[in-house]
Amino acid sequence: TLLLEEQAAGFCNVEGSIDSNHSGFTGSGFANTDNAAGKGIDWSVNVPSAGTYTLQWRYANGSSDRPGDLLINNSWSANVSMPGTGVWNNFIDTAAVNVDLDAGDNTVRLVATTSGGLANVDSLSV
Ligand code: GCU
Ligand code: CA
Repeated sequence: TLLLEEQAAGFCNVEGSIDSNHSGFTGSGFANTDNAAGKGIDWSVNVPSAGTYTLQWRYANGSSDRPGDLLINNSWSANVSMPGTGVWNNFIDTAAVNVDLDAGDNTVRLVATTSGGLANVDSLSV
């Protein structure tokens, strides 16, 4: 598993802030998007060969589902559900999502589709 921490290789940008006010995250913080549809998080994922890879996000959500659209290399790829985890300091993994990646660098964007924005996202694993 290639862990792409929010502040390590891979993480590019959050349309919001990097926060650390809810415990349970790994690394130095988690990505908190602004609470609006269209706000997202961007990563760059480098893989050695083209093929199907499994993506999962570690997240916490003290509210109701915060779904997003997954864009791979600027093309829509999947819906990602981030159901509530009860409280904001309970981080769990999303369901696995299989995507096709190109050899080399790929852009991965997860963008909120509802007015709450995304859940708080700790990391992406590939
Ligand atoms: C709370 C919580 C934030 C979260 C936000 C939200 O303010 O502290 O971490 O991002 O709710 O509803 O998105
Ligand atoms: Ca938020």
